[in-house]
Amino acid sequence: MFDTSVYRNLVLAFLALVAISQVYKLYHVYSNNNSQISALRDLTWSDINFIHTTDTHGWYSGHLNQKIYSADWGEFISFTSRLKEIANENNQDLLLIDSGDRHDGNGLSDVTVPNGVKSLPIFMKEDYDLLTIGNHELYLWENSRQEYEVLIEHFKGNYLSSNVQFKLDNGTFVSFGDKFKYFTTPNQKLNVLSFGFLFDFDRFNDHSKVTSIKEVIDNEPWFKEILKSYPPDKVDLLLLVTHVPISRSWPELYYLHTVLREFYPTTKIQYFGGHSHIRDFIVLDPNATALQSGRYCETIGWTSINLTTEKFDDRYSRTYIDFNIDSFQHHSKITTKSLFDTERGIEVSNLIKTTRKELKLNDPIGYVKSSNYYIDYVPITDSKNIFHLLTKKILPTLVTENENITTHDERIIIINTGSIRYDLYKGAYTIDSQYIVSPFENLWVKLTLPKGIAIQIAPILNDQGYIAKHLTPPHHMDDAENKNSLKRQTRFRYPVLDLTEADKQTIKNSKKKAKLTKGYVTFDDLGHDGDDTPHKAVVNFPIPNVVDSQELKKGTPNDELVDLVFYDFIQKDIFWALQQLNYTLEEDSNEPEFYSKKYLGTLLNEYIKDKGL
Ligand SMILES: *[C@@H]1O[C@H](CO)[C@@H](O)[C@H](O)[C@H]1NC(C)=O
Ligand SMILES: *[C@@H]1O[C@H](CO)[C@@H](O)[C@H](O)[C@H]1NC(C)=O
Ligand SMILES: *[C@@H]1O[C@H](CO)[C@@H](O)[C@H](O)[C@H]1NC(C)=O
Ligand SMILES: *[C@@H]1O[C@H](CO)[C@@H](O)[C@H](O)[C@H]1NC(C)=O
Ligand SMILES: [Zn+2]
Ligand SMILES: [Zn+2]
Repeated sequence: MFDTSVYRNLVLAFLALVAISQVYKLYHVYSNNNSQISALRDLTWSDINFIHTTDTHGWYSGHLNQKIYSADWGEFISFTSRLKEIANENNQDLLLIDSGDRHDGNGLSDVTVPNGVKSLPIFMKEDYDLLTIGNHELYLWENSRQEYEVLIEHFKGNYLSSNVQFKLDNGTFVSFGDKFKYFTTPNQKLNVLSFGFLFDFDRFNDHSKVTSIKEVIDNEPWFKEILKSYPPDKVDLLLLVTHVPISRSWPELYYLHTVLREFYPTTKIQYFGGHSHIRDFIVLDPNATALQSGRYCETIGWTSINLTTEKFDDRYSRTYIDFNIDSFQHHSKITTKSLFDTERGIEVSNLIKTTRKELKLNDPIGYVKSSNYYIDYVPITDSKNIFHLLTKKILPTLVTENENITTHDERIIIINTGSIRYDLYKGAYTIDSQYIVSPFENLWVKLTLPKGIAIQIAPILNDQGYIAKHLTPPHHMDDAENKNSLKRQTRFRYPVLDLTEADKQTIKNSKKKAKLTKGYVTFDDLGHDGDDTPHKAVVNFPIPNVVDSQELKKGTPNDELVDLVFYDFIQKDIFWALQQLNYTLEEDSNEPEFYSKKYLGTLLNEYIKDKGL
């Protein structure tokens, strides 16, 4: 008995060693040797295929300081041209779709007045088959007007919006583009019925109007009339081009889906979503799926549908393509860059270069030498965290521009974490970097409060109970449900990954041995093999709703008056917190006073210019 158990343990130990060495070998293939990325997962082509972009926010130059997203819009145009050639050769269809949010987040779009004047003509060089509007086209009237007069004019019947309207000068509301489109695909001759929807957004400018999806369905007869006039035998596929998060925690598309299924019990339905800036793919039922394709020209989403197969497993594929030239050429199956580029693509790349020059986007203000500063790849307390940098170094440089207010010796400055849009990378710091990191132009305002109250405000706004999706960056939208982890600041642990057989084959076949770069490892309804490039997962640490910079003295009593400074954007939240603390402002001080209009981005510019980082 003793002997057999020793024997068994030896066998187990041996098996474990074999297993470990297998894993090690695979890891070795990935991590050794030069940095060429070449172990890519191939696209699955089928009867109908889609390329999807969303939330580009003006990033048409690509990511100048991050190699894995370093292609530009011209190269993207060459890429889609090459894919269309493949589709046509095989008599399959490929449709290009964009889900909106083309403003705010990059110098190319934001440095001009009105913003988008230079970037939209670049975006428009891509031949989209269908596109829709995002909330960032609706904050300012001039952006909505551009959308109506420039984009819709250019894309005509391909621009869909079923629930957003534009107010003409004579007061009449008209749809942004068309409410629906019924068309036949060029190669497979599939009959497609499509709509465009925006989530229930309520901060639109007064020359526009958003009606929620639910209201359109429940109150506007036109919608169901369209569904009735295109019965299931006339529709092979329903396409919903939306700027709505596809996540199960966001009910809008699920309500829409229930209604669509009443009219079309088994018709294939494909949803395209956006807004929360993540990669995701969801199976709503065996004949309906949804794709969301990230943000900021980091990701090109791909999905394909096999319309004839009986087996669910063969029906759908999805891939999240990293926005770089290696990925583009790999999927185009063209190894030579000069053969890959199209004339039109080169033209657009040149247009981007001259536009950047004209807008002085490359002129350095200063240099970031010490480190990259991250939103959430390191904990909030880490010196490489951008909020650590802001609260410790940048915010303390804020001084009031209002000569008529009384200030106090002690001060707390609060910012919402969503006021920072992107990491700050090492290299030249330019006006472009400023718009990338902090594009928002809000006013600083001030309240005078007892210290004992002021110090409790940030903790209250960060309490688990306070659901404030507008305060954090969009990709943390679902954090509210996971707020417990915030307290611990621990790493989210990914499950142990088994490489699929296909992955192993890919690695075996890759000519150059690939190093695993840091990037997205996406978990969705089809598994975790959706990213075209196998990555070492970046970790997104939880981040709070707000952070504060405290310039306080030790030992002063709690009733000592201090200045509480914040963006007017979060005024409602600050007042809510005061209510929770049962604190009532004096009659004569219940409106915050103007403090400064030196935006966060400007403070950062000045700091980097004067002191460097
Ligand atoms: C407003 O202008 C549009 C487009 O020119 C026209 O179709 C519409 O009838 C006008 N509405 C009114 C109330 O004059
Ligand atoms: C999916 O669609 C096919 C026809 O396209 C139909 O035969 C099948 O029943 C549908 N599956 C479900 C679960 O509705
Ligand atoms: C669809 O799937 C079936 C297997 O169920 C396969 O025979 C067929 O080739 C597929 N179609 C395409 C276009 O890949
Ligand atoms: C505020 O007042 C309510 C009702 O009087 C009380 O329940 C609550 O504990 C108070 N909150 C604080 C922070 O003092
Ligand atoms: Zn967005
Ligand atoms: Zn959005």
